[in-house]
Amino acid sequence: MAETTLDVRALDKEQAYAALEEQLTAILDGIDDPIAEMATMSCVLHQGFGHLWTGFYRTVAPGLLRVGPYQGTLGCLDIAFGRGVCGTAAAERRTVVVPDVHAFPGHITCDGRSRSEIVVPVFDRAGAVIAVLDIDSAELGTFDERDARALERWVRRFAR
Ligand code: SME
Repeated sequence: MAETTLDVRALDKEQAYAALEEQLTAILDGIDDPIAEMATMSCVLHQGFGHLWTGFYRTVAPGLLRVGPYQGTLGCLDIAFGRGVCGTAAAERRTVVVPDVHAFPGHITCDGRSRSEIVVPVFDRAGAVIAVLDIDSAELGTFDERDARALERWVRRFAR
């Protein structure tokens, strides 16, 4: 398979996510492998939108998130539930949209260029938080409800 990643920056968000979701679904047809799915999802989103950092932190022990798979500059390795934006989303089991990372108490800086962020919890079928999907942007206010709803829909594949 030689699939080219789409660039959806010229599209409105609904169209952008729909185009990427169609591609992702086709690429992952028949694949039941969370790491391959997380890696592919990270790639499609990162290349599609030109984000600063896109990827997952997985729950590797009770209350502990560990980086990967991801695309972008080096991420912090471990984040405890309750710490930073990622740990808050994991502990509170909800999507956290941060329009300005400097205004979020406890934000963990991995790349100083990050200005806004969204973190979406990933649940398994039993409702456990198995990961979070974290996306960082170099612009302020990149993410809103449309991103939250689309990404929450995307990560539902890990609950099947
Ligand atoms: N900013 C995140 C840490 C992860 S990096 O952005 C890749 C946080 O506050 O949880």
